[in-house]
Amino acid sequence: MRTRLTEILDVEHPVMLAGMGGVSYAELVAAVSEAGGFGSIGASTMAHSQLVEQMGEVRERTAKPFGVDLLTAAPQDFESKVRDIAKGGATVYVAGLGVPRDVVDLCHELNLLVVNMCGKVRHAIAAVEAGCDLVVAQGTEAGGHTGTVATMALVPQVVDAVDGRIPVVAAGGISDGRGLAAALTLGADGIWVGTRFIATPEAQAVPGYKDALLGLPEDGTVVTRAYTGKTCRVVRNAYTQAFEEAGGTPEPFPMQVLRSIEDGANHLGGDADARDVDPDREFMPAGQGAGAITELVPAATLVERFVDEAEAALARAGRPV
Ligand SMILES: Cc1cc2nc3c(=O)[nH]c(=O)nc-3n(C[C@H](O)[C@H](O)[C@H](O)COP(=O)(O)O)c2cc1C
Repeated sequence: MRTRLTEILDVEHPVMLAGMGGVSYAELVAAVSEAGGFGSIGASTMAHSQLVEQMGEVRERTAKPFGVDLLTAAPQDFESKVRDIAKGGATVYVAGLGVPRDVVDLCHELNLLVVNMCGKVRHAIAAVEAGCDLVVAQGTEAGGHTGTVATMALVPQVVDAVDGRIPVVAAGGISDGRGLAAALTLGADGIWVGTRFIATPEAQAVPGYKDALLGLPEDGTVVTRAYTGKTCRVVRNAYTQAFEEAGGTPEPFPMQVLRSIEDGANHLGGDADARDVDPDREFMPAGQGAGAITELVPAATLVERFVDEAEAALARAGRPV
């Protein structure tokens, strides 16, 4: 399935694995890239040395393109980090929070495409003006840090605002190929998928996380500041309930992250085998699409299914009644 996204990323399928902190490590990233999608390392919870190690592991597993998501737009020693990302073989740098204005030119010198996550039309316009190469329009349905506008409403508005200058990728609540078909129909060039890829054998996840997703109904998530201080969509549990009942006032990001770690409720990016994880208190970012997840499926199979189901859905939609 060729689109502007597959052209610019030099991949076969317009399916991107979200750079999920604590989840998108080398094994999952390489599986998605090797299957013809585009894998992104979620580096937000990694020390820089671990990121370098993970990039090496991706390169051992696949020769295909992959990216790195750093979450913040201006970490310490930003320039040297960006140089290391290019040196590690990544072809895309994703800024999860804010437009990375200061390093766009440097990224381009290093042949790194720059991607910006956007929850509002004005974020997308700022990203285009700063010289970013792609925007991800992420609706409120998404797992993790999220805004208030739904994917169905956001994507066409971002597509219109960007006006063909760069490709737009849709994210938030996409669980199968019907979501890819919908994204293309709304004018996007592909999809950026998080939650669905957590329920794969290759994803890293604390004990109980994948099981929680398999059992979750469509309304089993909540947007809370309990774990990071910023609005984040997670599996609703006793910890989020207690936080809301207590008035829901967090410390600012990232202090609230430390608070939830101290509370023993946040192991994201920590030891995947942590024994002290209580699934009813744990930080488990998840989107509303989780309700559609019924089984663990290998990442490569998911990439193929996304494309096959999208083609079938588009053919069905185009058929006269
Ligand atoms: C566990 C988890 C961790 C995430 N971490 C990040 C992150 O570090 N940086 C980022 O840009 N987005 C992050 N996100 C958001 C994803 O990039 C993506 O936009 C979202 O998962 C898409 O919606 P979906 O989960 O409904 O597919 C995270 C999402 C999840 C579920």
